[in-house]
Amino acid sequence: MKILVTGAAGFIGGNYVHYIVEKYPEDEVVALDKLTYAGNLETLEPVMDKIKFVKEDICNREAIFKLFEEEKFDVVVNFAAESHVDRSIEDPEVFLMTNIIGTQVLMDASRKYGVKRFHQVSTDEVYGDLPLDRPDLLFTEDMPLITSSPYSASKASADLLVEAYNRTFKLPVTISRCSNNYGPYQFPEKLIPLMISRALDDEKLPVYGKGENVRDWLHVKDHCSAIDLIVRNGKDGEVYNIGGNNERTNLEVVKTILKELGKSEDLINYVTDRPGHDLRYAIDPTKIETELGWVPEYDFDTGIKQTIQWYLDNKSWWEKIISGEYQEYYEKMYIEKGR
Ligand code: NAD
Ligand code: DAU
Repeated sequence: MKILVTGAAGFIGGNYVHYIVEKYPEDEVVALDKLTYAGNLETLEPVMDKIKFVKEDICNREAIFKLFEEEKFDVVVNFAAESHVDRSIEDPEVFLMTNIIGTQVLMDASRKYGVKRFHQVSTDEVYGDLPLDRPDLLFTEDMPLITSSPYSASKASADLLVEAYNRTFKLPVTISRCSNNYGPYQFPEKLIPLMISRALDDEKLPVYGKGENVRDWLHVKDHCSAIDLIVRNGKDGEVYNIGGNNERTNLEVVKTILKELGKSEDLINYVTDRPGHDLRYAIDPTKIETELGWVPEYDFDTGIKQTIQWYLDNKSWWEKIISGEYQEYYEKMYIEKGR
């Protein structure tokens, strides 16, 4: 099978490439990424000799069509996106371009060149949020899309477009909507790696509002195994929610990190809340569990300990991000060496 993975130098796309290369050595993987601020080629370095890397923008229609014509992909898994809610509040436009138009370009190319499955990696944020005082309520696939941030609105728009291409053009598609991921290679602007890296440097930890908002945490490897199952066995046109029933308040997460690192809770700094801040996310994963037999491997307590250890063992990976050095990597490895 020949797979195009977009957004492959990002957190989840990178982990997915590692997962596929290890599990299916016979598959051919083309890893595409624009290398925005969030893309880091060092994430792909351990598997670089087993894949083909293409630096490209999914919005570049001409280049994307040329690539599809040359490569004849069986499957496209679209991770490429602007993914950070706070950035979407500062500057929404690039979110609409990449997350909506980029998805459309990939689907147009998939239609023209006969891709057998287009998988859209979406998010639970398209369902809006749930109240804090109704733990019985969970997101199910049949809920309406009600969004809060420009990020979630762009992801929901893309989902609607994917469903439209399935119905109108019969493009074979699946969509997955996952809860918050954590694990190795996550960019240190997101809650968990931000708090780990700042705590290690004894810097203040900015907790929005009172830290009461709830997220449903899933280890990135469990997200990868779920997507793999959907791509191979999921039904055409279907949406699958992915989540592991690991709800925690932000404050609980931050305190766990501080405890694990042996740091004082005095580092916690309550700051102005995120505008439009979603209160609670919680996934009902019954469909993927019963229809596809997906079982997550990690519970949060074990996964977070391993993740903290990964950031301790791989300080140079995130320190280069914080210093900005990682952005010179492509230049050094590909342009200067003529690769
Ligand atoms: P990320 O920001 O770490 O990675 C995104 C990658 O996409 C980066 O490598 C970036 O360079 C690349 N990219 C951005 N614009 C591009 C463009 N125009 N063309 C090509 N590449 C481009 O994000 P992530 O956390 O790995 O998220 C991946 C996907 O999973 C996103 O679609 C996101 O909406 C979804 N998702 C994320 C989470 C989470 O908790 N992080 C949960 C559910 C769903
Ligand atoms: O639910 C899936 C989504 O999870 C994905 O679609 C997004 O791409 C991903 O970024 C993530 O969105 P969140 O907004 O939930 O993640 P973030 O790590 O930005 O924030 C997690 C929670 O922590 C949220 O309630 C805001 C809070 N927070 C975040 C940061 C960065 C803080 O309190 N302080 C911070 O500095």
